[in-house]
Amino acid sequence: MNALPYDGLLLGVHLATLDDTRPGGHVIEDGALGWRDGVLAYVGPRSALPAAPAKLAREVIEARGWATPGLIDCHTHLVFAGHRAHEFDLRLNGASYADIARAGGGILSSVRAVRAASEEALLAQSLPRARALLADGVTTLEIKSGYGLDFDNERKLLRVARQIGEQLGVTVRTTYLAAHALPPEYQGDADGYIDAVIAWLPRLHAEGLVDAVDAFCEGIGFTPAQTRRVFEAARALGLPVKLHADQLSDLGGAALAAEFGGLSADHLEYTREAGVRAMAAAGTVAVLLPGAFHVLRETQLPPIALLRAHGVPMAVATDCNPGTSPLLSLRQAMQLACTHFRLTPEDALRGATVHAARALGLSDRGLLRVGLRADFVLWNITHPAELCYWLGGTLAERVFIAGHPTS
Ligand code: NIG
Ligand code: FE
Repeated sequence: MNALPYDGLLLGVHLATLDDTRPGGHVIEDGALGWRDGVLAYVGPRSALPAAPAKLAREVIEARGWATPGLIDCHTHLVFAGHRAHEFDLRLNGASYADIARAGGGILSSVRAVRAASEEALLAQSLPRARALLADGVTTLEIKSGYGLDFDNERKLLRVARQIGEQLGVTVRTTYLAAHALPPEYQGDADGYIDAVIAWLPRLHAEGLVDAVDAFCEGIGFTPAQTRRVFEAARALGLPVKLHADQLSDLGGAALAAEFGGLSADHLEYTREAGVRAMAAAGTVAVLLPGAFHVLRETQLPPIALLRAHGVPMAVATDCNPGTSPLLSLRQAMQLACTHFRLTPEDALRGATVHAARALGLSDRGLLRVGLRADFVLWNITHPAELCYWLGGTLAERVFIAGHPTS
């Protein structure tokens, strides 16, 4: 039996708790974090600890720098096979993302690679990407399907996503994105494909493989009417929805996601005020994906000022995928959100923690607060803005998941 109040205690660091309910502000200088059974049990100034550290925990870590909540990457497609570097080259020579998709490349090129890969090969190729995210502070990760586009291959992607969570000890939330592109066997019959997408969902859900449902609502994806049918199927199973909305044109995707009480609407470059209002009313989080904006050399900015004005929480994610955002660092996504979208470094940090947790429907993490999970990162920095200032590199010194160091 452990008679000490905490399993572990971290001292000597400043804390960016992001907890706005703290009197005096969310930052605690010369703070201390104590945890027990994977949950935070003390978050406060070192000077207010109830006893000498050695009397409080078996493991006392004296450190320097800053601690933040573990980063949460709330939008990735990181399980895929191969890469699409040749498309990068084509785009640099003038082809658009939509041109390449219409010519049978793009998402369908990754579908061919995934279908040809075994589950083991897919896991072996995807694990290093997840490890890269974890190494710089990610402790919770969302992974979408959407490169299988038939029952067995969507299942394979979701199973690999679950295995990544088990092997790395990180929380993985899975999202069913079979409505991502029209597979060749359904050419000319998008409605028939949506019937199949709807039929597969309960079977995959019954296997415990689906935490949320997403779709690509776009000219080169699916119509709002088709997206609505997918969302109705999700609702019938009690599954929350998210949406790739208004990335390349405004089809009213943000409002559609909001109508279904969506956890998030993502991308949003072309969203107008009506969509933003609907999101605010529904409590739908805006997930900003500056990696895709950057790689596609977009010029249409998401409506940041409107999102702010209407109080819509903004999350930031990597969108890690082989086409539009081969991005392996959430911190780098935060950096891009500041440079391209003019988020402040604090906005970007909230976007990759507290708002990202909400975009995944997780209320047990995203802040440093007693009673929440002991997922936190110790950073080798002297100011939190450095997290968004340095491009590349690794600033995370130690990453803790449920109170356990990951390395
Ligand atoms: O979030 N836009 C649709 N889906 C992905 C890209 C997928 C791909 O090109 O492989 C996105 O940008
Ligand atoms: Fe995406």
